[in-house]
Amino acid sequence: MLELGMIEVWRVRGMPDVSLLSQDEKAKLKAISGQDTSEAFILSRCAIRSLIAKYTRKPSEEKCIETHPEGKPFLVNHPDLHFSLSHSGKEVAIAFSRTPIGFDVEKKERRADFVSIARRFFSGAEAAQIAAAGEHAASLFVDLWTAKEAILKLEGSGISGGLERALVWSEFEGELDGRRVHLHRMEWPGFVARVASFEEPRFVRVKELVFQ
Ligand SMILES: CC(C)(COP(=O)(O)OP(=O)(O)OC[C@H]1O[C@@H](n2cnc3c(N)ncnc32)[C@H](O)[C@@H]1OP(=O)(O)O)[C@@H](O)C(=O)NCCC(=O)NCCS
Repeated sequence: MLELGMIEVWRVRGMPDVSLLSQDEKAKLKAISGQDTSEAFILSRCAIRSLIAKYTRKPSEEKCIETHPEGKPFLVNHPDLHFSLSHSGKEVAIAFSRTPIGFDVEKKERRADFVSIARRFFSGAEAAQIAAAGEHAASLFVDLWTAKEAILKLEGSGISGGLERALVWSEFEGELDGRRVHLHRMEWPGFVARVASFEEPRFVRVKELVFQ
């Protein structure tokens, strides 16, 4: 089993066999349009099954994932194993922990009017910071976005929970409704990722799961 205090972030690649999906998942897959989204769905569901088996040393059940009303997925029969999933284009990554967790990965290079988006969704101070960041505006925006989204995914609300509620104090610390949140930033070529947790993690490591 995963050690308490350990967060493992799995970058998932390859093309697993669709037959590994449950009947429900196969039905869901039919309703998904877009190649990247379908591939991310297959990869993420097969990876979650394979990681449940690895951590619990038992094969995953046919129905192993349920979804809270606000959209946060959770493992049905494993209350002490938590995960949070994120995809960005073809990149799929999943964070696992023994305690609740929120995770987000985003492409580093993005072209958009970050100042306007920040004025719309972030606090006045954060938008001002981005406006003053010049050529670093994009990286600052993506950094803040991943941290805020990870915090809201930890809560289970997603961005409809209000990006302005997720406060980011530093690379390591944030706050949600007065409650301290621990943040951990990771990056790998082309991507920035964050995990958020209420308990301070002892270790965070990035691993790869490749389906042949
Ligand atoms: C639903 C939301 C969590 C998805 O965010 P996203 O950045 O589009 O997508 P991600 O790949 O990071 O996360 C999607 C996964 O989060 C999980 N998720 C969905 N709702 C969630 C919630 N309320 N709480 C926690 N996790 C949730 C699901 O596992 C989902 O994957 P799935 O659809 O394959 O099951 C929400 O925050 C959202 O709508 N975001 C809009 C994103 C956006 O505009 N991004 C711009 C970035 S610069």
